[in-house]
Amino acid sequence: MCGIVGYIGARNTLSVLIKGLECLEYRGYDSAGVSFIQNGKLNVIKKKGKVKELYKLMDDSGYDLSEKGKNSISAGIGHTRWATHGAPSDENSHPHMSMNGKICVVHNGIIENYAELRSFLRKKGYEFASDTDTEVAAQLIEYYYTKKEHDFEGSIRRALQDIVGSYALCVLCVDYPDRIICAKKDNPIVIGIGDKENFIASDIPALIEYTRDVVFMEDNCILIMTKDSITIKDVHGEVLDYEVAHVDWDTDAAQKGGYAHFMMKEMFEEPKVFEATVAPRIKDGDIFLEHFPCTKEFVSNINSINIVACGTAYHAGCIGKYLIEKLCRIPVTCTVASEFIYSDPIIDEHTLTVVISQSGETLDTRNAMREAKNRGSQTLAIVNVIGSTIARESDYVLYTAAGPEISVASTKAYTTQLGCVYLLALKFAKVLGKITPEKYADYQYELLEMPSKLQKILDVQDRIQRFASAEYNAESIFFIGRGLDYYLSMEASLKLKEISYIHSEAYAGGELKHGTIALIEDGTLVVSPITQDELAGKMESNIKEVSTRGATVLAIIPERFAEREFSCNEKFIIPDCDELFAPILTALPCQLFAYYMAVNKGCDIDKPRNLAKSVTVE
Ligand code: M6R
Repeated sequence: MCGIVGYIGARNTLSVLIKGLECLEYRGYDSAGVSFIQNGKLNVIKKKGKVKELYKLMDDSGYDLSEKGKNSISAGIGHTRWATHGAPSDENSHPHMSMNGKICVVHNGIIENYAELRSFLRKKGYEFASDTDTEVAAQLIEYYYTKKEHDFEGSIRRALQDIVGSYALCVLCVDYPDRIICAKKDNPIVIGIGDKENFIASDIPALIEYTRDVVFMEDNCILIMTKDSITIKDVHGEVLDYEVAHVDWDTDAAQKGGYAHFMMKEMFEEPKVFEATVAPRIKDGDIFLEHFPCTKEFVSNINSINIVACGTAYHAGCIGKYLIEKLCRIPVTCTVASEFIYSDPIIDEHTLTVVISQSGETLDTRNAMREAKNRGSQTLAIVNVIGSTIARESDYVLYTAAGPEISVASTKAYTTQLGCVYLLALKFAKVLGKITPEKYADYQYELLEMPSKLQKILDVQDRIQRFASAEYNAESIFFIGRGLDYYLSMEASLKLKEISYIHSEAYAGGELKHGTIALIEDGTLVVSPITQDELAGKMESNIKEVSTRGATVLAIIPERFAEREFSCNEKFIIPDCDELFAPILTALPCQLFAYYMAVNKGCDIDKPRNLAKSVTVE
């Protein structure tokens, strides 16, 4: 939901800003812009469209954007936008300059009372050039700066008293060319610490090329950054201590590395990141979940488990619900986070709330976690981004080791989330004495075998590519499955629709005949994962029902079903595994299918329309 960068130092500021925006473009790509102070003047350059449009505009205007370019800029900020208030346009692009040219602002978040503030400022003579909520912040800070406070930091602190909403705000003031001031509430800001240079970004990939020493800014804090200093204060102006974290990601983790798209690269990383998530936690025949107390006393005290998440992470949660109930016999609810807070949930201190999020910043998920905490629940976060808000605010954390996931469509993060929910379910079952030592050992082995099986799928991915090349004109696609295959179908359907824009639905195989089968006609495409032994016969009946009505059917089946008769047009065979573990493997061909359908349709794979990677609005 919008990406922010800021830089002060000796490098070519414009190069740092543009490269940073390119790294953050997954957060929004409706427009991009930069602002900087040069020779005592505040400049703004912005453009509707992707960062490459901004780059072209600046290049054509004679700006030196090269890494080696000379730097006469004292401080600069940049922004890539996911539009909320005001359509994507040049005017609504950030940065926003105040009416008298004193202040420039980039913002991630929503100023909820912007209409009220705008009318207050209009009465004071302020005129507005955009439809955005952000412009209000720029004008309000200038108003307090010129009329009341006459001090950059003081005017921001005063303006924040009036602003209701969420924000990561980065502000420049023409009279203070040596600094950037930021304010944060409910939206991420990472500070990168360098030698006689400092950086700001919404996420680590924009900084990693320059520094690995970072500070995750806390909510309700103000940062005053110069090239030599970082000062963090609370809203009253008290200086706060901060912790510097060291990030050990590869620099190439956030590069495409020869792949056509990040999504492809990230699918090819699945064997490696699944192993990195699971293998270090399996030692000497047991599972160890660092920082999470899986003692008998702790687990026996849990009467129910509540899983909350959004989108793909929610689908990983659905698999978790199935597993924990099956293996541990603990009742589990899995709820879409945006619905959870309005559902008056039945939870108390004997409920464990498991929060799943790749970014660790999704606002709906954070709100759900806070609601669960308020009701007395303990919270365990399964999160990918180290130091993210959900990771910091939850009682316990289990990190997925997916590394940076840049493509908006989540692939490797999902697979590693599954890794964590399997580890959790198995460990709980062991602690509660619900699993035999033999089964516990077998299941650990299954998990350790997954990376090589995922690799086998990648080795024959051209078969999915061929099928997609023949079918990409499909207008509507149904995914049908039973049990775990149904939960997996939900994820497969989301993946397809978000990147290929093809209408798709996931249905429980047995439910189709209760209405939706009316939509099946000649040529409708149906994809059916069939991996559960007891349910395979019933699924055969279900795909017969659709093929009889003209559907083209792709069945995704394990090796042991290869010779079995299914009424399908095409089979994709995945390696055999215990049926409980099949979703980990089945997800990959479904992701590849979505990818190739979208490639054939010429879609923008890594930046699908209307979406952003990290959703920090409700
Ligand atoms: O960062 P999170 O895991 O909390 O994000 C949740 C969803 O927004 C995310 O999974 C979304 O559904 C993806 N675009 C799906 O590919």
